[in-house]
Amino acid sequence: MPAMNTHPATILLLGSGELGKELVICAQRYGCRVIAADHYAGAPAMQVADHAEVIDMLDGRAIKTLVRRYQPDYVVPEVEAIRTEALLDIEAKGTTVIPSALAAHLTMNRDAIRSLAAEELNLPTARYAYADDLESLKRAIDDTVGLPCVIKPVMSSSGKGQSVARTKADIAKSWKHALKGMRGDKGVVIVEEFIDFDYEITLLTVKQRASAVKRGRGTVYVEPIGHRQERGDYQESWMPCPMPKAMIRKAQRMAKKITDRIAGPEGAGLFGVEFFIRGDEVIFSELSPRPHDTGMVTMISQDLSQFELHLRAILGLPIPRITERGPSASAVILAERASKKAPRYRGLQDALAKPDTEIRLFGKPETRKHRRMGVALATGRTTADARRKAKAAADCICVR
Ligand SMILES: Nc1ncnc2c1ncn2[C@@H]1O[C@H](COP(=O)(O)OP(=O)(O)OP(=O)(O)O)[C@@H](O)[C@H]1O
Ligand SMILES: [Mg+2]
Repeated sequence: MPAMNTHPATILLLGSGELGKELVICAQRYGCRVIAADHYAGAPAMQVADHAEVIDMLDGRAIKTLVRRYQPDYVVPEVEAIRTEALLDIEAKGTTVIPSALAAHLTMNRDAIRSLAAEELNLPTARYAYADDLESLKRAIDDTVGLPCVIKPVMSSSGKGQSVARTKADIAKSWKHALKGMRGDKGVVIVEEFIDFDYEITLLTVKQRASAVKRGRGTVYVEPIGHRQERGDYQESWMPCPMPKAMIRKAQRMAKKITDRIAGPEGAGLFGVEFFIRGDEVIFSELSPRPHDTGMVTMISQDLSQFELHLRAILGLPIPRITERGPSASAVILAERASKKAPRYRGLQDALAKPDTEIRLFGKPETRKHRRMGVALATGRTTADARRKAKAAADCICVR
């Protein structure tokens, strides 16, 4: 990192949600200067950054203008919806992109990362095909994927435009739903075999820059995080997630293979690598080249949270052994309905009266139905106990 004791590093954060906010708080503790950008004012990370910039992040010129203005040491993408071609240019001109411009570019499109994982790296995945109209979707389901199947726009996140087709009659509905939920102009979907998994995990994988690793760990893994999704969006996550050692190692090997490939030797940062577990199969699903929403549980479950780990990897700071704090869980706090008015919160008193519990409210300026507005964190005697406590605390809080 640039001489930390004289000049704190400058970080340009592209995307300013709740994950970015926690990262910025970590960065501020080391005296970094942070510029938080997003497409709307008052976004969570902007509230704690030195500067806030409202830009269209799909506009490459707007991103480059910020880079020229602030001369950041690190450009840190926090969301997928970024003009990633601009990141490739920025990196080529010598500014470090986290974890690498290629990683941001490939993970922006589900098809690019899936083809790389399955075809180039031979990672086990659900059977899949791509389709660009209803007819080709029907053919793909007939020929390759079968029913039930999951249909997702190649450009979308947080479950948007995603649905399960169980019968032939569902396929047209799923296609329409995907068209409505897709971002950008690429009218393509990925259709995947539905995996009836026993459970699913996120494996947080931290890559340290080769040049920064002295007593060589290189790649650090956090214990697997179990989670539950609804409407394609995370509802709760927990640690530890009991899993045979051999299968954890299998997941780690797969995570290493794909993160090495997309980060390159000088790439650094934390990744959320998602797997489905069915019997003794470990099936790769997707990955984020940044902190993961299910990883919010690490704010309570261990000394180095995913945000601290990401930041240390970015700055080239040491990452010693992680100390776990025992069974822990997170549960989301969702808005009840859409409103353009500043949200009102009720129940914080009741939630915080519970022991072993923490609450984060993100301070988002508006609500949408089911928008994530906060998270409850808890520790417990067992994972089940921690999950119960986190859920009970989240349920105390009403946002409208
Ligand atoms: N092929 C599949 N079989 C069974 N379930 C699936 C499949 N694909 C996705 N899911 C379910 O939907 C969830 C969301 O899918 P995925 O992670 O691909 O979408 P996403 O929009 O990228 O979500 P996020 O941005 O929140 O990670 C998964 O965590 C899983 O629970
Ligand atoms: Mg996902």
